[in-house]
Amino acid sequence: MELEKQVLIVTGGASGIGKESALQLAKLGATVVVADLNEDEAKDVVEEIENNDGKAASYKIDVSKGDDVKALIDWTADKYGTFNGIFNNAGIGLVKPFLEMDPASYHKVIEVDQHSVYYGMYYGAKKMVELGVEGTIVNTASIYGSMVATGSFNYHAAKAAVKIMTQSGALELAEHNIRVVGVAPGFIDTPILGEDVETKAYLGNLHMNKKLIQPEKVANVVSFLFTSKASAINGQTIPVDDGFLS
Ligand code: NAI
Repeated sequence: MELEKQVLIVTGGASGIGKESALQLAKLGATVVVADLNEDEAKDVVEEIENNDGKAASYKIDVSKGDDVKALIDWTADKYGTFNGIFNNAGIGLVKPFLEMDPASYHKVIEVDQHSVYYGMYYGAKKMVELGVEGTIVNTASIYGSMVATGSFNYHAAKAAVKIMTQSGALELAEHNIRVVGVAPGFIDTPILGEDVETKAYLGNLHMNKKLIQPEKVANVVSFLFTSKASAINGQTIPVDDGFLS
């Protein structure tokens, strides 16, 4: 199998894009650490992987805390004797008009959506270099890293940063045989979009196919990026937006 013997971490692996990616990476043979704030749902994902003869473990984490991310990576490498990559995917939204975008609302999203990616890249790359292994880092950006809509100043700042951090990290880590790539999803049918049916229909309509994108479509790209078939893709953030930004 394509990812046999690979040990990979998926943050935000309990739900949505992260969950589907964890399932697909395990199907390709990887051992997957499903890392999430939501421990119960992370355990459910592990159970689903194991029921399909895959290998996985859950790990409770707040990715906005650097020490937690370092501990996750150390724990993974100690448990399995290796560590080959991380999908920095956990994220939140916190929508407010700009004049209500107080420092707490701004910093919350920057910490969870941007600083977490730095922690995963930094501690992840250091561990791979220490172990002397090649590896792959995949980051979740967003179409909102390249365009703007009202109410998302904090999210735009975080996701634009993730895009350029992906490029910059790839440039610096190539000499260590570590690839850094990203995905920029459009509007994906996950809990982050909320429950409002009209809003979801409106967002779906923005795509060429006039519907929300299912999370497994993003996972298809994420799992491909972790394979050697993607070895010539580096520093790029791949849109998975059904033509929205084209
Ligand atoms: P989701 O809400 O289904 O999954 C997010 C996961 O991250 C949840 O399991 C949640 O518990 C976890 N999480 C949140 N804060 C955390 C923290 N501090 N520490 C650890 N885990 C934490 O949402 P979705 O859509 O799967 O989101 C995944 C990523 O995709 C996020 O980075 C999001 O910004 C991004 N994205 C999503 C889009 C969408 O339309 N659904 C569009 C573009 C990007």
